[in-house]
Amino acid sequence: MILVNFKTTKEGTGENAVKLAKICEKIQKETKIEIVPVVQAADCYRVSKAVHTKIFVQHIDPVEYGANTGNILPEAVKQNGAVGTLINHAEKQIDLNVIKKTIERAKELNLITVVCIAKPSLAKKVAQMSPDYLAIEPPELIGGNISVATAKPELIVQCVENADGTPVLCGAGIKTIEDVKKALEYGARGILIASGITKADNPEAKLRELAKGFQ
Ligand code: G3P
Repeated sequence: MILVNFKTTKEGTGENAVKLAKICEKIQKETKIEIVPVVQAADCYRVSKAVHTKIFVQHIDPVEYGANTGNILPEAVKQNGAVGTLINHAEKQIDLNVIKKTIERAKELNLITVVCIAKPSLAKKVAQMSPDYLAIEPPELIGGNISVATAKPELIVQCVENADGTPVLCGAGIKTIEDVKKALEYGARGILIASGITKADNPEAKLRELAKGFQ
């Protein structure tokens, strides 16, 4: 599985988000590797209307219908076409108790949960909250050109060990097919990627290359 985090990039916002999601859909069809656009909540309706693949959002808040101005209501993203969410991304960190509540709210709606963690020591605690996936992303490698699988493979291995069977994804600095292959060798079940796609000269060719790393 490849999660493509559009973040708040120009290339991943509004109509550009639709274009990029269509590329994800095309390469998913071609390679049969699941490729999930992870979009801003504001874009999930527009993107979900344009493609037939799964769409995740980057964050939800564990609020209910009511007076919660500015929060991202899980029901709203679900009604607008998202089927999953990141939780606790390095750029949107929340406390452990909020992670727990957010997973619980997501589960009420059958939203798929991917909880990001910066270090493997958190894996056990978070795995006990029963998310669908854990994603290990060392913050210092995010946006760079050296991948987690090259610089810190032991983090992936430790995270898989500590995750008690919860599938582990990894991300940060992934740019090449070798990065993908190594991540899988160390026990990851998929990758999270952002700049490797959003800033690529040819996002379609880059996604095709990375998807081949799974085959
Ligand atoms: O969520 C994925 C992201 O944080 C990794 O970013 O740019 O290092 O692929 P990047």
